[in-house]
Amino acid sequence: MNCFPPTIIGLAVSFCIFFLAAGSRLDPILRLPSEKDSLGTRWAVLIAGSSGYGNYRHQADVCHAYQIMRKGGLKDENIVVFMYDDIANNRYNPRPGIIINHPKGEDVYAGVPKDYVGMDVNVNNFFAVLLGNKARLSGNGSGKVVDSGPDDHIFIFYSDHGGPGVLGMPSYPYLYANDLIDVLKEKHALKSYKSMVFYLEACESGSIFEGLLPEDIDIYATTASNAVENSWGTYCPEQLISPPDEYSTCLGDLYSISWMEDSDIHNLHTETLKQQYHVIKDRTSVQKTYDSGSHVMEYGDLDLSLSDLFTYIGTNPANDNSSFVDINSLPQLPSSNRVNQRDADLVFYWNKIRKASEGPEKREAETELINVMTHRVHIDRSIELIGKILFGLDASKDKLNEVRPSNKPLVDDWKCLKSMVRTFETYCGSLSQYGMKHMRSLANICNADVTLDKMEESAAQACEKIPSNSWSSIDQGFSA
Ligand SMILES: *[C@@H]1O[C@H](CO)[C@@H](O)[C@H](O)[C@H]1NC(C)=O
Repeated sequence: MNCFPPTIIGLAVSFCIFFLAAGSRLDPILRLPSEKDSLGTRWAVLIAGSSGYGNYRHQADVCHAYQIMRKGGLKDENIVVFMYDDIANNRYNPRPGIIINHPKGEDVYAGVPKDYVGMDVNVNNFFAVLLGNKARLSGNGSGKVVDSGPDDHIFIFYSDHGGPGVLGMPSYPYLYANDLIDVLKEKHALKSYKSMVFYLEACESGSIFEGLLPEDIDIYATTASNAVENSWGTYCPEQLISPPDEYSTCLGDLYSISWMEDSDIHNLHTETLKQQYHVIKDRTSVQKTYDSGSHVMEYGDLDLSLSDLFTYIGTNPANDNSSFVDINSLPQLPSSNRVNQRDADLVFYWNKIRKASEGPEKREAETELINVMTHRVHIDRSIELIGKILFGLDASKDKLNEVRPSNKPLVDDWKCLKSMVRTFETYCGSLSQYGMKHMRSLANICNADVTLDKMEESAAQACEKIPSNSWSSIDQGFSA
């Protein structure tokens, strides 16, 4: 029972305590966060790591985030957007040139800068942008980078598929957690920010920071899920809060729309990152049932979460009179309103079949779904079989699925993990978007000190028996 919102009183008390503590030391450096943080420039990097109409929601999330940054007062020159850009004008999009992130939402696509689109959405460019390193960029992007200084604040939002220790990109290679952490450390060593906030939506997104993100490099991160669970798409067809009928795809992701719909309505001077964390955590937990929901997590320098959102993403002047008051200020979504990230593309294929007219169109749609499912089964079986060859019938399952304690990263030797992935793919075909879920098994093969030779032998043996199919036309989605 929640009879009285304690937030305001709590806030006022901690405000006073902080102020007194700061004042009693007469230290001019110790100022309130909002005062101190009003110096410097706000930067934002917004990235959708997927492509294809079945992944509509990731790019919709990122476009929505852009609108929040703009309304918050950030300038285009300080916002870098990565999106494949195959949604607005996709042949399946019922409203050409328009992207929505809510069933009743307005267009969020208008005005979004196309800094890095198509194949320029890749790991190398993402790192180059973060590091402010123009020389390292490749392709035909805008050349915009985070050219930040020591007083600046950086906000990063990443929405995509992922797996243990890995985040997707529209093309290979995917992004490995250790490489991301190295880049963040490098950025810190360059002394080119005061503090950074990283919001991450992906399956197993906790694994990107768990046991990896240092607490002393001025970065605060929250993730849609812990290290061992899915994150969830939402506003999906045929659900209680569903998109208009002409849409055959999910419009958003649960964690993402939670932070954004909260940011949309509040004066962000009055809301701290910590408060928003609790709002998102609450909403994404589905009334703490975790039924089609996930555990939102926080990592890194948790003290940073005491500063207000305004420091990072500004605030919309239209919300000046809308203070943050209560953690229950957002409507809960019914639990049937979500589809886990990995199955959200099946929703798209299924709806295509449902809507196709009888005849060749329906048969083609059915074949597509069958191909997707065949690829999934093939990947699952290959991993299972390799596990049995390596660890024996009885131990295999436990070995492959073993979860390390939460202060330890997924794997100690990331080079080994990459080699195992390469070896697997050589013999068994591409893991692709869906196959990222098996990264933990491949990591555990490294953690068990299996040699590369042994892995090669096992993969060759396992995958010779299961023919790989033409996966490549599947996960690349549908270009416009
Ligand atoms: C906020 O309230 C004040 C006082 O009522 C009013 O003058 C101002 O226009 C309001 N601002 C917004 C953005 O609605």
